[in-house]
Amino acid sequence: MRFNQKDSLQKEISRLKASHHTIGFVPTMGALHQGHLSLVQKALQENDAVVVSIFVNPTQFDNPSDLHKYPRTLEEDIALLTSLSDQLLIFSPDANELYGKEVVSKKYRFGPMERSMEGKFRSGHFDGVGTVLNLFFRAIMPDRAYFGEKDFQQLQIVRKLVQLERLPITIVGCPITRESNGLAMSSRNRRLSAAQQEEATLIHKTLKVVRKKFDSVSIQKLRAYVKQRFAENPHLTLEYFEITPVETLQPALRKTGKKKYRAFIAAFAGEVRLIDNMALN
Ligand code: PAJ
Repeated sequence: MRFNQKDSLQKEISRLKASHHTIGFVPTMGALHQGHLSLVQKALQENDAVVVSIFVNPTQFDNPSDLHKYPRTLEEDIALLTSLSDQLLIFSPDANELYGKEVVSKKYRFGPMERSMEGKFRSGHFDGVGTVLNLFFRAIMPDRAYFGEKDFQQLQIVRKLVQLERLPITIVGCPITRESNGLAMSSRNRRLSAAQQEEATLIHKTLKVVRKKFDSVSIQKLRAYVKQRFAENPHLTLEYFEITPVETLQPALRKTGKKKYRAFIAAFAGEVRLIDNMALN
């Protein structure tokens, strides 16, 4: 079923909740691929009903050209979702329907993790993500909401968001879906040429080397290695490489104790910005 309006969606959700159906929620910005669908499938397995939102959220883009060029394929997305299940509630509101008159972000205090990596390089990004998800969460009040580890920092921010907003929603993290060549699936991959899609596998290849060397090589040396590897490649420009503990997401200079670490890369292929990450231990 398709909804453009909060009211009609909420009516249907109330009806479902009245008959004790559990509700799963998968927020997306559309241009759906197998990565999104893996979240929807998990949500379908774990809940009686699933809401999928398709909304390109203007407040989380710091770059107007990135917002403008973000792929929009609503009819294809709906066909894909409908082929997966005829039970989905597809919610694709316009900005004013969701936000009201003023499409602006609220200011959040997510703590230090909002200032590293994506928070550092995309000003206001997580305020935009927090604001739109808070609006969706309050409109839908799902039991569970599903997020990909592809955007690992976002996943941790969302866990913080539900604490700050005191929302009784379980946040479920889901593994990264990759192309057969290792490239993490992303809506932005549609903007890459075939050659660029091949070149961009450097990101995943580099993360795999870092994972292999993590136990035996210092973080400083790994940083130098990654910088060098990207510097040698004319097709990709490294924006950041970080190794961080999964809890704090603060760049680590050395390994300590028994913490769990992850490596993160953001890089440009032409003007398309790509991110990826990998668990190291
Ligand atoms: P979007 O980039 O469309 O991603 C929607 C969800 O799909 C996110 O949880 C993201 O982590 C997950 N996802 C994307 N690519 C994936 C992949 N290759 N493997 C596994 N999961 C993947 O993230 C957003 O939209 C927005 O910020 C949003 C949360 C919808 C708020 O506007």
